[in-house]
Amino acid sequence: MKSFIHQLPKAELHLHIEGTLEPELLLTLAERNRIELPYRSVEEVQAAYRFTNLQSFLDIYYQGAGVLQKEADFYALTWAYLKRVARQNVKHVEIFFDPQTHTDRGIAFETALTGIFSALQTGRQELGISFRLILCFLRHLSAEAAMSTLEQALPHRDKIIGVGLDSSEVGHPPEKFVHVFDRARAEGFLTVAHAGEEGPPEYVWEALDLLKVERIDHGVRSLEDPKLVERLKAQKVPLTVCPLSNVKLRVFDKMADHNLKQLLGQGLCVTVNSDDPAYFGGYLEENYRAVWEALDLSRDELAQLASNSFTASFLPDGKKEHWVQEIRKLC
Ligand code: ADE
Ligand code: ZN
Repeated sequence: MKSFIHQLPKAELHLHIEGTLEPELLLTLAERNRIELPYRSVEEVQAAYRFTNLQSFLDIYYQGAGVLQKEADFYALTWAYLKRVARQNVKHVEIFFDPQTHTDRGIAFETALTGIFSALQTGRQELGISFRLILCFLRHLSAEAAMSTLEQALPHRDKIIGVGLDSSEVGHPPEKFVHVFDRARAEGFLTVAHAGEEGPPEYVWEALDLLKVERIDHGVRSLEDPKLVERLKAQKVPLTVCPLSNVKLRVFDKMADHNLKQLLGQGLCVTVNSDDPAYFGGYLEENYRAVWEALDLSRDELAQLASNSFTASFLPDGKKEHWVQEIRKLC
């Protein structure tokens, strides 16, 4: 089954590029850019990666992102991620970046964007990995700050396909960003949002009804509300589930408790993703393996997850169909 998982062509739809900063690169960039960190070795960094909830992770994640200063740093980060997932048969990636994490430190929007985008272009040419780029607003900051970030993105509509919403969920409901998302859609961006990770099913309803999202990022708490499950099913709204993240951030105590198999069994378009792999102990293939082992998934269920990852993507229909057929040939 491990080799079946490896062979499956896969798409990654929920990946924060800042969350791919491995301890080695973190320390190298800190030294090069003369940034003080509270760690001196990879072991010390890893020892700090014990989280009790989303916020305890975000505090360390934002501190880590502080080492990203130059365009070349963003390029190196993205290129390292792409090389790694090319070896896992990842064929398409839709990645998030958090401009405010950088602009609030005085790094230009274009510095982050250009570094990330150039590496994605190299990845397409040299590794054959197609891509889409999604900007995320930090929901713990104001709606006005999100609007000004959206305005900075307007000259780059050719590079950024959509906008999303991430960071501290509880206390920052989707409703707070309704005007920003209205404007984003009017400007031609697609929309997604993190909802139902730590927050209640009501936040998933708001993301659907108010932000009119194409996908829900996480959404695992949707299962608490049968009417919401019906809605997600009727509208075929994909959920980008991140199993290792959910266990590391204690959304579930252990992988055997994860509800991914139930979500699939309800007929929802569930996908498997890695969220912040450098912090959560695994990239895409490790996430597939973890759910297979803990939840005893069948070959059909694994193939369904891989097929869903393409059908839920922002690829054109012809490309989606191509990858779905390739997966079917393996079954
Ligand atoms: N930013 C990076 N990873 C995140 C997650 N899992 N939830 C919310 N915001 C994030
Ligand atoms: Zn996320």
